[in-house]
Amino acid sequence: MDLKAYIEDRKNIVDGFIESYFSTQPVRPGALQQSIVYSLSAGGKRIRPVLCMAAYEIFGGRPKDVAGFATALEFIHTYSLIHDDLPAMDDDDLRRGKPTNHKVFGEGMAILAGDALLTEAFSLITDPSINQLQLKASSIVKLAREISIASGAHGMVGGQAQDLLSEDAEPDEDTLSFIHHHKTAALITASVRSGGILAMADEQAMTRLTRYGNSIGLAFQVTDDILDVEGTTEQLGKPKGSDEKMKKMTYPKLYGIEESRRKAQALVDSAVEALSVFDSKADPLREIARYLLIRQS
Ligand code: IPE
Ligand code: IPE
Ligand code: MG
Ligand code: MG
Ligand code: MG
Repeated sequence: MDLKAYIEDRKNIVDGFIESYFSTQPVRPGALQQSIVYSLSAGGKRIRPVLCMAAYEIFGGRPKDVAGFATALEFIHTYSLIHDDLPAMDDDDLRRGKPTNHKVFGEGMAILAGDALLTEAFSLITDPSINQLQLKASSIVKLAREISIASGAHGMVGGQAQDLLSEDAEPDEDTLSFIHHHKTAALITASVRSGGILAMADEQAMTRLTRYGNSIGLAFQVTDDILDVEGTTEQLGKPKGSDEKMKKMTYPKLYGIEESRRKAQALVDSAVEALSVFDSKADPLREIARYLLIRQS
């Protein structure tokens, strides 16, 4: 299959949704809208909404039908990046190839754009007008709970907190695993599981999707750590060497580059293995897992 074309097609669905979302319901003051739209349209890979759609498609549905739900995941992810770059956190100046939100709009507006995106995600998930599938309220509640747990204190925010607390600390396996599973794998797993929830997948399928999500989620952050050492600022669209600058606890720091690469490979293998019960409709998920090992940005 042509993974590039597959991702491009789903990315266009998300980009189209984002474009119409804020133009049909403008935000006042305009400066807040500009700040939100600036980061959202700066050109992210959209991997989380694509994962949601790809998981949904295993069960025979059309990606367009879950566009709003998938976009909510990108809202949360983009908020996490805006806040992650703030001077009080990773203090970075470049994101998605452009100056970071706070560099353009100031710290106050960047914090608020993040707050708005996080909240807006749940207004979107619970918006009856995007519920083209006529999902029951109980499914929407399940979805909102899945995504809020993965994003909050027990998920991404918890991981980000431990990431901050572990700057300068000697790396250890348990803390590092906690940070990466929470700051990154949690939302990625929830993205995959959301596709399953939207398709009303059975328990066995959900278990498989969860295993796949956890494995690629961790692999995603391991490769992010490797790229911070080996990539280029130009390709990454964010400053290379940010982790070293902030003395972050990373996979290369604890295990070295080669062993980190081996671990990422093993995680991708187990992710693909988890999908063995699914037919060729799961090929995009299989290919996305393999792509993580060779991604340059
Ligand atoms: C970067 O995420 C932050 C991490 C959790 C590693 P992405 O690499 O998905 O960033 P974008 O969305 O493509 O900019
Ligand atoms: C970020 O991890 C995880 C988030 C929840 C945003 P990083 O701090 O390594 O992400 P980048 O490298 O800045 O994108
Ligand atoms: Mg960070
Ligand atoms: Mg960062
Ligand atoms: Mg990083």
